[in-house]
Amino acid sequence: MTRKKLIAGNWKMNKTATDAVALAHDIVVALGSQQEVEVVVCPPFTSLEGVGKAIEGSVVKLGAQNMHFEASGAFTGEISAPMLRALFATHVILGHSERRTLFGESDELVNKKVLAALRNQLRPIVCVGESLAEREAGSTLKVIQTQTERALEGVSKELAAGIVIAYEPVWAIGTGKVATTEQAQEVHGFIRGLLTKLMGEGVSQRVRILYGGSMKPANAPELLAQKDIDGGLIGGASLEARSFLELVKAAASVC
Ligand code: PGA
Repeated sequence: MTRKKLIAGNWKMNKTATDAVALAHDIVVALGSQQEVEVVVCPPFTSLEGVGKAIEGSVVKLGAQNMHFEASGAFTGEISAPMLRALFATHVILGHSERRTLFGESDELVNKKVLAALRNQLRPIVCVGESLAEREAGSTLKVIQTQTERALEGVSKELAAGIVIAYEPVWAIGTGKVATTEQAQEVHGFIRGLLTKLMGEGVSQRVRILYGGSMKPANAPELLAQKDIDGGLIGGASLEARSFLELVKAAASVC
């Protein structure tokens, strides 16, 4: 089963609306009509509309970095799935470790968001990952299992195939410390096996599992060549067109 590689840029809290549109424009021009790799950019909420217009008619897709699980209501400062859909977003990052650790998002909350995204035809990019202390304590796979199972509670098999999982070891995010290919493949293989148990082989073979955590042009080719690594969720290296495009090229070269 060949899964289309996916490279997603998580711009986090970076770029003004003007800078975001400029970056999106550079990416669109450089990518042209390439079809081998699915490319998603996830700017801050304030840039979604501008970036959406800049990528219109191109191969680049639009994602958000978070959302609330309710459709509307008294939730000051929050953004809902229908609002994202109205701006033509197709993807949404959920349960990023920064949301979990800095903003107290629990597995239960992440699950509610996953279900809300799917109800609204948004493709969730669900992040899971262990902290350094958890890795050192030997509990990496247990943590990944719990986070994955809880995020997918109540998701039907039909919809599960469209979910993207991002394995992001917390100790590798923004630190320059990348997981070795063996460490990454071990966890990706484990997630695939878990998905087989939960959803069946047909579904697990279709789910894309991305690696995230200091992925750069220099380390990407080896990571992306692993059998269960289907792309990358890129932070730092997605903020500049040149490095982001090199990552897309690296993914295309292993297709
Ligand atoms: P990084 O971030 O590439 O800067 O490590 C990845 C992420 O947090 O999604």
